[in-house]
Amino acid sequence: MMTADKSTTAGANGRLTGRVAIVTGGGAGIGYAIAARLAAEGARVVIAERDDQYGKSAAAALGVEFSKTDVRHRESIDEAISFTLSRFGQLDILVNNAGVTRFLDFLDITEGDWDLIQAVNARGVFFFMQAAARVMAENGQGGAIINIASIAGKGYGSTSSAAYAASKAAVIALTRIGAVQLASDGIRVNAICPGITVTHNLLGDESGNGTDVAPVSKAWSGAETDEGRARFRALVQTIPLGRPSRPEDMGSLAAFLASDESASITGQSLNVDGGLVFD
Ligand SMILES: NC(=O)c1ccc[n+]([C@@H]2O[C@H](COP(=O)([O-])OP(=O)(O)OC[C@H]3O[C@@H](n4cnc5c(N)ncnc54)[C@H](O)[C@@H]3O)[C@@H](O)[C@H]2O)c1
Repeated sequence: MMTADKSTTAGANGRLTGRVAIVTGGGAGIGYAIAARLAAEGARVVIAERDDQYGKSAAAALGVEFSKTDVRHRESIDEAISFTLSRFGQLDILVNNAGVTRFLDFLDITEGDWDLIQAVNARGVFFFMQAAARVMAENGQGGAIINIASIAGKGYGSTSSAAYAASKAAVIALTRIGAVQLASDGIRVNAICPGITVTHNLLGDESGNGTDVAPVSKAWSGAETDEGRARFRALVQTIPLGRPSRPEDMGSLAAFLASDESASITGQSLNVDGGLVFD
């Protein structure tokens, strides 16, 4: 299941040699591809992942470390940071990728839906940023934080739910305010906004017709039903480049944003969506 294909490692050039990275939710989907790319570029990587099976198999496939982590809990975040420091002695890159959603109509969202989605996608992102920034500020070398937001946070209407869109708008706001308030510590903060992204590890094919889509894609596309699959195919038709984004598309941008090649870029939320959204 968790094998790095050629496109995962394409362009690897050691830009991140000597750096240490944490990738939250790196056991599957986009996070897995980002962990693979950072490792291929020379970083030592810790996958901070809630799911034991995903975390262990991803770490084994990529030759990286796994720290069982639930980003909803502050103490779990602290444990992931401590694990990383005890293993590698430094932390230079944080990729806040862990995220959840549910496919819900505006009128049906409950307090439970809202709280779960904000707890992972917004609260977890903030407290992981804070914990990592403390370490980066203290070491005097600064660092790079990359948050995985979504075009949903910029108002893309065909998303899974209003609760998800709100959580991703929060991530974009945290990226901007973090960039300003952490700049004096040498910390750059940027976000990647994926569009319709088909996670490579579980999906049968790129058209969105696969039956075993990874959780986030499954939730927002409603891919577990015929109606959901038809909706997904129709959405793919609206992408100007004519195909869904791939997790590897996020991996290459994450590696760039983590590297010194983006030394002058901070506070930006960059769309990787085949041309769906322009702001
Ligand atoms: N797939 C898409 O089309 C799409 C589009 C826009 C944005 N995104 C964002 O990209 C990120 C990754 O999405 P994906 O499609 O790869 O999702 P995915 O569901 O395939 O993977 C998410 C990973 O995060 C982990 N995770 C979930 N909750 C966690 C928690 N509380 N603590 C630690 N780990 C946790 C899961 O176990 C899983 O390994 C998410 O933030 C998502 O919102 C995805």
